[in-house]
Amino acid sequence: MSQVRLDQVTKSFGSVAVIPPLDLVIADKEFVVLVGPSGCGKTTTLRMIAGLEQATSGEIRIGERDVTTLRPGLRNCSMVFQNYALYPHMTVAENIGYGMKVRGTPKADINTAVANAARILNLGAYLNRKPSALSGGQRQRVAIGRAIVRQPDVFLFDEPLSNLDAKLRIEMRTEIKLLHRRLQTTIVYVTHDQVEAMTMADRVVVMNQGRIEQAADPITLYESPKNLFVAAFIGAPSMNFVEGRLEADDGGVVFRAEGGVAIAVPARVAEHVSAGIGQAVVLGIRPEHTMTVDPAFPTIRVEVADIEPLGPHTLAIGKAGASAFTAQIHAASRVRPEDTIEVPIDPEKMHFFLKSTGEALKHR
Ligand SMILES: Nc1ncnc2c1ncn2[C@@H]1O[C@H](COP(=O)(O)OP(=O)(O)O)[C@@H](O)[C@H]1O
Ligand SMILES: [Mg+2]
Repeated sequence: MSQVRLDQVTKSFGSVAVIPPLDLVIADKEFVVLVGPSGCGKTTTLRMIAGLEQATSGEIRIGERDVTTLRPGLRNCSMVFQNYALYPHMTVAENIGYGMKVRGTPKADINTAVANAARILNLGAYLNRKPSALSGGQRQRVAIGRAIVRQPDVFLFDEPLSNLDAKLRIEMRTEIKLLHRRLQTTIVYVTHDQVEAMTMADRVVVMNQGRIEQAADPITLYESPKNLFVAAFIGAPSMNFVEGRLEADDGGVVFRAEGGVAIAVPARVAEHVSAGIGQAVVLGIRPEHTMTVDPAFPTIRVEVADIEPLGPHTLAIGKAGASAFTAQIHAASRVRPEDTIEVPIDPEKMHFFLKSTGEALKHR
């Protein structure tokens, strides 16, 4: 059992509070990704779990054990860092086995463990090479190998793919997921990259200024962001936001944006947003939900400033009234910069947030 549990954990550096009381439970065998902008406290949280940083207050448990004040070596966590932290003068085999050697493990056992890790990570052909003779991806695999041989209760990854080029990053994403499936070990993985978080995690924890904004599986985050921060952070290109007001209108609900755009809110959506009637709200609509043309759909007028052809579809980037707006349009479209287009909005995909609090009105 290697559940990880943080109860009211805080961290201050001197007088600066970086993590306000944080509660987080990571289930046994779960793959959880902590994601958020740079400086939001991801590394600090991970290092507190590892014991490399002492929590200022609160309690950390791994499995049944209270590890809050335990030193790192006794927590049975293995951490993989962004910069690999390999020993340059040692071979791959020596790097992977080094921790075991330090602990006095018999040589035969080290060899078996190293061979096993090398097989899992496809490093068999490189065991006698020095790190300098490896590619970035191979070095990262060695760093992971070193974590594997310790047979930890919990793997902690801190931005392990950030130093790799885009193509390799995508390959390593899959490798780490397969590794998780094979090893069945709890993983806490930190990244600032929301795509990495969405593609890898069982559950994504979105952090902002030390706080958890929302923790959910990737599809729930995408479909039902709890607030403007999560809505803007998850998804690429980012969700469009248009400010306006919700008004009761003839038994229904209408969203009125500055500049005169009025969008009838479908009954199914309206029942969830009644709390926002008469208030300033922000309409959120993802670029990928602007392409389905249904004669019944409302439209929003977009002045196009630029066109980005991506192959499968094209992005039209411009403004809807005063708001920046990106619409996904068909690749075959002849829309050009400086055109004005009427962009259809799928009303079922509209999100509404209270402007005053940023909280979602419709949280399915
Ligand atoms: N050793 C430290 N001393 C002082 N401030 C620190 C220290 N480590 C991190 N911080 C601060 O704590 C905040 C969170 O940092 P960090 O956990 O590294 O964020 P992230 O990993 O999400 O980018 C930042 O404002 C950072 O400057
Ligand atoms: Mg960090």
